[in-house]
Order: sequence, then structure tokens, then C-alpha cells
Amino acid sequence: MPLTIAIDGPVGAGKSTISDEVAKRLNILHLDTGAMYRAVGLAALENGIDPMDEEKVCRMCEVGGANVDVRYQDGKQVTLLNGRDVSSAIRTQEAGGAASAVSRYVAVRSMLVRRQQEMAQQQPMLLDGRDIGTVVLPDATAKIFLTASPEVRARRRMLQLREKGDQTPFEEILAEVNARDLQDTTRKLTPLRQAEDAILVDASDLDFEETVQAILSIVEARHG
Ligand code: DC
Repeated sequence: MPLTIAIDGPVGAGKSTISDEVAKRLNILHLDTGAMYRAVGLAALENGIDPMDEEKVCRMCEVGGANVDVRYQDGKQVTLLNGRDVSSAIRTQEAGGAASAVSRYVAVRSMLVRRQQEMAQQQPMLLDGRDIGTVVLPDATAKIFLTASPEVRARRRMLQLREKGDQTPFEEILAEVNARDLQDTTRKLTPLRQAEDAILVDASDLDFEETVQAILSIVEARHG
């Protein structure tokens, strides 16, 4: 099995940007698995299906209405929904909420987990998500659980939104972070949790470079 790095953690911990950088320095591909759940959420929204309606979402997947795939362009992930590049369209709050809802369903998870495992078997990869160390790659070379306090995560999210001109108040963003945490950690199917053999990196008081270095040294210790 090629080198595999699993990075799990709650919403807003900086998993995507940190994972991107770590993968770049190790010269391996990064698969942001949340993007795949977002694509299924987006498919539901575009088809006028309530993401909370399990039966309809699963039927949409069964009939091939949400074919999610990933390809790489200059080392960067391009997320495809039914062959269409949805990399930007999945980055809205609405698509994030829909992703959180559809990620609770067995049919959705098994479809996406299978694809993630296939990809990780083909080349060395870093995967980030919620269940990588526990379900997708239980034998990953290195497992990291990346987290930060809800306030720190909400502040980072607020700065990202401000850059896009979004003026959502801090309290609202913090409430959203807490709601997503609750939904992700209490869902019946593979709730977000730290794998027993994962190493905790709490980035509350670390800057970007310190977090990247913390992860690289964990990978080095495991992989040599
Ligand atoms: O990391 P993100 O915010 O893009 O993820 C969107 C949603 O997808 C999030 O609410 C949890 C879910 N998700 C999941 O259940 N399993 C993963 N491996 C990745 C994301």
C-alpha cells in the first residue's frame, strides 16, 4: 500500500489548507473528502431535494444522479459532479449544510468511501475528512486529529467569509460551527471521533507554519 496520511478533525480546524500545504511539501496528492460530500449535497439542492430527506437523497444516488469524482489539474483537486466542475459551487454555506445532512446516510457514505479507498490505493496520498483514520484508511501510515477551539475556528471562518465580502456576524458563525460539531459528532453512522492511534494536534495556539511543521514531524516519525 502506498504512503497514506489521514487527517481528521472538526469543521474549520484548517484541515483543507493545512493538508494542501503538507501534501505539497511531501510531493503527494491531497484528497479533500469533504468536497465529495459537498458535491452530493449540491446535487440534492440542484435537484430540488431536501438534504434532510434520506429516501429521496439515496434514490438520487442509486439512479446515478450524483456521480462524484475527482481529478487533478496541476496537482490541484478538481471536484466533479456528473462530469461538471463544481469546485467553486460547493464552497457555499448552503452546500456545507447540505453536505453535513447527506453525510449521515449509508448509501452516500459507502459510495464515497469506496471511491476514496480506490484512489488511495493507486498513489501516495493525504486524505482529510472526518472518518479517514477510523473508516476509510484504518491502516494509514500516519493519522492526525487536527482541532482547535470553536471560537478560534469561528474566527478563522469569519476571516475567510470577509475576504469574499460576506458580513455574517461572528455569533452566527460560532453558532453554525457548534451546530455542525453537534451534527458531525452525534450522527449515528461513523460520527466524527479521534481514532485510537491518531495523534492530536490542537492548533488553537499554533500559526499556519507551526501546524504544518507539527504534522510533518508526525509523518516523519511514522514514515521515516
Ligand atoms: O470538511 P467540509 O466542511 O468540507 O465537509 C462537509 C461535510 O461533509 C461535513 O459536515 C462533514 C461531512 N464529511 C464527512 O462526513 N466525512 C468526511 N470524510 C468528510 C466530510
